[in-house]
Amino acid sequence: MKKTRNAFLKRTHTCGELRKEHIGETVVLNGWVDTRRDLGGVIFIDLRDRYGISQIVFAPQHHEEIYRRAQTLRAEYVIAVKGVVEHRPEGTYNPNIPTGEVDVIVQELEILNKAETPPFHIQDRVDVNEDHRLRYRYIDLRRPVMRNNLLMRHKMAQAARRYFNEHNFIEIETPVLMKSTPEGARDFLVPSRINKGKFYALPQSPQTYKQILMVSGFDRYFQIVKCFRDEDLRADRQPEFTQIDVEMSFVEEENIFAMSEGLMVRLLKEVLDVEVAAPFDQLTFKEAMERYGSDKPDRRFGLEIVTLSDIVKNVSFKVFSDTVNNGGAVAGFVAPGCASYTRNQLDNLVDLTKSLGARGLVYVKVTENGFETPVQKFLSQDDLSAITEAVGAVAGDLILIVADTWKKCYEVLGDLRLEFGKRLDRMQSNKIDLLWVTEFPLFEWNEEDKRYYAMHHPFTSPREEDIEKLKDSVEGVKARAYDLVMNGNEIAGGSIRIHTPELQSLVFEKLGIGRKEADEKFGFLLNAFKYGAPPHGGIAFGFDRMVMLFAGMKSIRDVIAFPKTSSGLSLMDGSPSEVSDEQLKELHLKIRS
Ligand code: AMO
Ligand code: AMP
Repeated sequence: MKKTRNAFLKRTHTCGELRKEHIGETVVLNGWVDTRRDLGGVIFIDLRDRYGISQIVFAPQHHEEIYRRAQTLRAEYVIAVKGVVEHRPEGTYNPNIPTGEVDVIVQELEILNKAETPPFHIQDRVDVNEDHRLRYRYIDLRRPVMRNNLLMRHKMAQAARRYFNEHNFIEIETPVLMKSTPEGARDFLVPSRINKGKFYALPQSPQTYKQILMVSGFDRYFQIVKCFRDEDLRADRQPEFTQIDVEMSFVEEENIFAMSEGLMVRLLKEVLDVEVAAPFDQLTFKEAMERYGSDKPDRRFGLEIVTLSDIVKNVSFKVFSDTVNNGGAVAGFVAPGCASYTRNQLDNLVDLTKSLGARGLVYVKVTENGFETPVQKFLSQDDLSAITEAVGAVAGDLILIVADTWKKCYEVLGDLRLEFGKRLDRMQSNKIDLLWVTEFPLFEWNEEDKRYYAMHHPFTSPREEDIEKLKDSVEGVKARAYDLVMNGNEIAGGSIRIHTPELQSLVFEKLGIGRKEADEKFGFLLNAFKYGAPPHGGIAFGFDRMVMLFAGMKSIRDVIAFPKTSSGLSLMDGSPSEVSDEQLKELHLKIRS
């Protein structure tokens, strides 16, 4: 090959590749200077690329001039080296890396680029705040842990694609500029230059498109797709996130469950080499709430909640009996071994419970000598014994009881349960727990807006047996919706859909969406349903959350190459940013001060 002016030493191997078998070969490596140890007379450099680390050696006896130039190398310089692979001297093997038995004695060195001192070390444990990492994300992504996270993400995406392809699904792209679909969050809007005063919305999900693809006969659709929601951000929420979106025709819940379980079994086996058994357990929303105080229960650490309403409905303690008689719930759980809590600790616990939104907390210490509780005078020994037996407490335990509306009671206990899971150090389990939560209510009352909202989304079908009831009242109507929960995280959600214009119109009406508004917003879907819509249903997996859990991370930001901060900023490139007056004018927009 003719040497061009731009030519540099091109790698023959990656930095993760060299083994004993290569001894004696002349190789070229390209990479970044990871660490440099100058032992006076010999310089060792760990050369890094995304495949691994190779030790390269410079010594004056090998090549005086190159040795001198090696002294100028600094962390993160990009270099090319040519040299001979040698067996490391006995006793200097590095068993921690696959290339640890060999090193490369350098005969040629090219400095491809210098680097300023990096803002932090390229190592798994960095002692810098996340903002700093995000600002220098290109450096951060050189860290092995981050590199492995993105690699795992890639593997999972590829495995998912293979899986759906094998099962006859086709991947179809849907628009990013679309009409808003109400998924419950706020839309990101994009002003139209050509159509003055009109806006596109970025999809909160491809929900309506995938349903229309079913009407078009595509039968099995999937897409790995970006979704956008302008909501308050948390560790498991980003304004733009990725779904593995799925829709199927001629199906019922069981078919979607089986297909989803197959995906999870495949991913866990292929990516983590973990076997899980399918089918997964199913809990109804009611069971999940009443036993774990959450619609995404983490079942790996006991501390189950027990309903006490029946036991306390006639006690003289009004807080309990009135709550039950007014349709609320009384429930509690056992904090094992916590009867030793001091007065101060207990006061803090009551404050914590109140800060979670409850009116109060009753605690009962179970001791060898009987019960200790602030409500001693309102609850008889028999009442306390019955409660103790129901929750399964023994001497040394602390019983925690809350009385409130059904929702508040179990939600608060669910939060307390998680708190005690942490306090009692029960959360460290390596177990994987996957379950379905089913039979969600179709609608949810919003106290602030004084109106009902669809708990999942307005295209979700009510159960067949509830459709008549729905005509009169939405109370108690259950949806054919389901969530998939992994280790206390909602990783997927979906439903069997409405596929007739009549039922869809009824549900819109019950949501307070009038005929005119329904036509404006969803006329296209209602129309599509008039031309032969098959029964259909689907699900969407929160891909970022899945990768986070597979990788053992605590935040989805760690498995997204370029995430936003909790205030929606991209610190590296500085978005969102101001735009010129010119751009605003073109878009017919004015910023109000
Ligand atoms: P849903 O709104 O439940 O359903 O979303 C599906 C899954 O996406 C993940 N998720 C998120 N992940 C990161 N950041 C966010 N802001 C975020 N919001 C949601 C969750 C969730 O389980 N169209 C329906 C699906 C369907 O009915 O088929 C939908 O989007 O893991
Ligand atoms: P009070 O009658 O408000 O002084 O409450 C008596 C005891 O009952 C206190 O220990 C409160 O913390 C507790 N308590 C009050 N309201 C509730 C409630 N809704 N659920 C559980 N405990 C409560």
